[in-house]
Amino acid sequence: MKSSEIREKFLKFFESKGHAIVPSSPVVPGDDPTLLFTNAGMNQFKDVFLGFDKRPYTRATTAQKCIRAGGKHNDLENVGYTARHHTFFEMLGNFSFGDYFKHDAIQFAWELLTEVFKLPKDKLWVTVYAEDDEAYEIWNKTVGVPAERIVRIGDNKGARYASDNFWMMGDTGPCGPCTEIFYDHGPEIAGGPPGSPDEDGDRYIEIWNNVFMQFNRDEQGVMHKLPKPSVDTGMGLERVTAVLQHVHSNYEIDTFVNLLAAAKQAVDAAGAGDCDKESPSLKVIADHIRACSFTVVDGVIPSNAGRGYVLRRIARRAIRHGYKLGARKPFFHALVPALVKEMGDAYPELRQSGQRVTEVLRQEEEAFFRTIANGMEILERALATGAQQIDGDTAFKLHDTYGFPVDLTADVCRERGVTVDEARFNQLLDEQRQRAREAGKFKMAQGLEYSGSATTFHGYEKLIHETAQVVALYVDGTPVQEAKSGDDAVVVLDHTPFYAESGGQVGDTGELRNAVSRFLVEDTIKIQADVFGHHGRIVEGTLKVGDAVNAKVDAEKRAKTVRNHSATHLMHKALREVLGAHVQQKGSLVNAERTRFDFAHNGPMTAEQIRKVEELVNAEILSNHPTQARVMPIDEAQKSGAMMLFGEKYGDSVRVLDIGSSRELCGGTHVQRTGDIGLFKIVSESGVAAGVRRVEAVTGDNALAYLQSLESTVSRAASALKVTPSEMSARITQVQDQVRNLEKELATLKSKLASSQGDELVAKAVDINGLKVLAATLNGADVPALRETMDKLKDKLKSAAIVLAAVNEGKVSLIAGVTQDATGKVKAGELVNFVAQQVGGKGGGRADMAQAGGTDPSGLPKALEGVAGWVRERA
Ligand code: ALA
Repeated sequence: MKSSEIREKFLKFFESKGHAIVPSSPVVPGDDPTLLFTNAGMNQFKDVFLGFDKRPYTRATTAQKCIRAGGKHNDLENVGYTARHHTFFEMLGNFSFGDYFKHDAIQFAWELLTEVFKLPKDKLWVTVYAEDDEAYEIWNKTVGVPAERIVRIGDNKGARYASDNFWMMGDTGPCGPCTEIFYDHGPEIAGGPPGSPDEDGDRYIEIWNNVFMQFNRDEQGVMHKLPKPSVDTGMGLERVTAVLQHVHSNYEIDTFVNLLAAAKQAVDAAGAGDCDKESPSLKVIADHIRACSFTVVDGVIPSNAGRGYVLRRIARRAIRHGYKLGARKPFFHALVPALVKEMGDAYPELRQSGQRVTEVLRQEEEAFFRTIANGMEILERALATGAQQIDGDTAFKLHDTYGFPVDLTADVCRERGVTVDEARFNQLLDEQRQRAREAGKFKMAQGLEYSGSATTFHGYEKLIHETAQVVALYVDGTPVQEAKSGDDAVVVLDHTPFYAESGGQVGDTGELRNAVSRFLVEDTIKIQADVFGHHGRIVEGTLKVGDAVNAKVDAEKRAKTVRNHSATHLMHKALREVLGAHVQQKGSLVNAERTRFDFAHNGPMTAEQIRKVEELVNAEILSNHPTQARVMPIDEAQKSGAMMLFGEKYGDSVRVLDIGSSRELCGGTHVQRTGDIGLFKIVSESGVAAGVRRVEAVTGDNALAYLQSLESTVSRAASALKVTPSEMSARITQVQDQVRNLEKELATLKSKLASSQGDELVAKAVDINGLKVLAATLNGADVPALRETMDKLKDKLKSAAIVLAAVNEGKVSLIAGVTQDATGKVKAGELVNFVAQQVGGKGGGRADMAQAGGTDPSGLPKALEGVAGWVRERA
């Protein structure tokens, strides 16, 4: 049975038991900052288990794309060393949301394995949670599994997550005791039954985990009962396929056989020649291409933080294994087409993004291939000392200078039985981070020392604060008590309506004034997390610490900025609607002129998609909804479905902003009603990096100005064409047709003209020892006409050496021809060169036909006269 049939049979079996077949969710979980990657089938149902979300079904079944390469569930280190671990795998699952519980779950599992998949009962072992007598009884009494093949496994706090029979998605979230089903691959494989000292071998393989979801674990570790007991199960497709295809390793199943062959081919082509096809390195590569490709499909790009760094680590680990086999140039990206072939039917998003995935991986590979050889040399040198441990400084240098993630270094060391001093490595990493933080702080504060209290921000409600007090003043980065007219200064106030640059929105401008002084605010920045610095110039009088000022934001500029910011939220929502949920914000800049928004997406947007986004946003504007901002605890915000950015640090309480139908966490300033935006228009769409697009848009009066300027361009063009704008495109087509026809006519005329001159020329040829020699200028001819005339003249003169010239716009075109019989004596290439040299050019070509050009027509008559003499010397 092929793995695709097994997937199908599983889903159909549960469908026959009343389960809804639900598609896999992306490997990058939407809006769940607690989770790095989708690590189990139940992730997409987390809120259903918790009772926050309702679905139209209470039983579901899925084949879920999972990644376990970071966070709580991490199998990265095991890949390549065991027969059953993957960074990416498919989890088949059935779920009950307060519907059936232990009895049915266990019986469904048994029926599928023994009756549909027809596995021999005596090959199956089960484990139950130590205190779960109920599950024990069901297995033993109802199903009939003998006691010697049922193992109770305790909630051993020290044990690894997966082996203690109490399953949790992460540190928080739904969890519960579980029962696991194992398959015995037989005595020829090493390893002991579950719970025994050598359970880590490959003989007894866990194929299916049935979790009885009963609790929600909070941050303090307290277990809260779920509204209804539920079921969550997970069976690794690769593992059950190995069993059903009678192989002992996941890497021998159909999917992997093909991927391994593709990996060998790519590595061989990249310099390995003919690598060992049994090498574990090929398994690592075949495993990692799946994890890397599916992560890129869902919008992740290799980077140095968060998910991007996990992707980078996996990709570089695979590249290093290829390097080990002998690859010396990029090979990894070349596996994408083979993967698409294997999995593109089950996961069409893979097929759709295949090209972008290839491109993203190729770039990452090129970058790493630039440093890998030097890095490996350093590592080899360290290993050659025979030390049992690589020092942290070397590991850090490899990380910092050569782009070797520490687990990659550890992976190389492990092959030699050597460890890495990770404690020292982490210490160095921390120190470096600390230095970077300080540098960042320094930059943010621009060296400003401040130890007073935080600034109170009033800019959400008003643009003028009547009596703000100056609490600190800086000139040239130094604290001062007083600043005078002309000084470039930073002012800190106790209260301010000025928004300080953050979250992509630029800082406010405006002025601070009192009876004796005026300060123009050119920018507002955060000098500490909640201390705002007003940066600008004193234009009148002096300003002292302790002074009261009237702080007034430039209302027009703020209004324009706010329109662009609110429109950005609506656009983000619309982009996701039009292009898909993989659209994730990668960066934004909002100022008074425009909004610039970067997001993950493969390939340019079509004109139709751009129009659709504009329509959606403008529809929201027209419905003129009031916007609403609420401050609430982060988990409440998360439950409310607000859009969050992974990797952003959010505080405990956050500001949730509803604009139209969009909901995002945002500290920025916004319009009061969507109608305030006026009009929204996208002005450009472009690519900024592999897999990242950039859209720029304008709003309000800027949008109007943009459209007016387009209109005036159009009307200038229309009046030049002497038509109305609506007739313009028809007129352009017509003009183009006319031009084409005229060109054709002109060419015909030129050739006619040349050919009539050619007839006259026949008579002018001079005879030199039986060879007719002719050199002449054709008026009004172009190169094709010269060539045509040349052919005719050769025909007529039979045995000849001919040079024809034409002068157009100050440039000379030359062509020389010699009939076949004479090429032994006279070569056309040399002949044309003889003439060309005298007209400021140079040329050459075949013996019978050659072409040249020149830039000095004044030398032409004399050069042509010289032709006869030149030929005479040779003929
Ligand atoms: N969620 C359970 C697991 O991943 C089924 O093992």
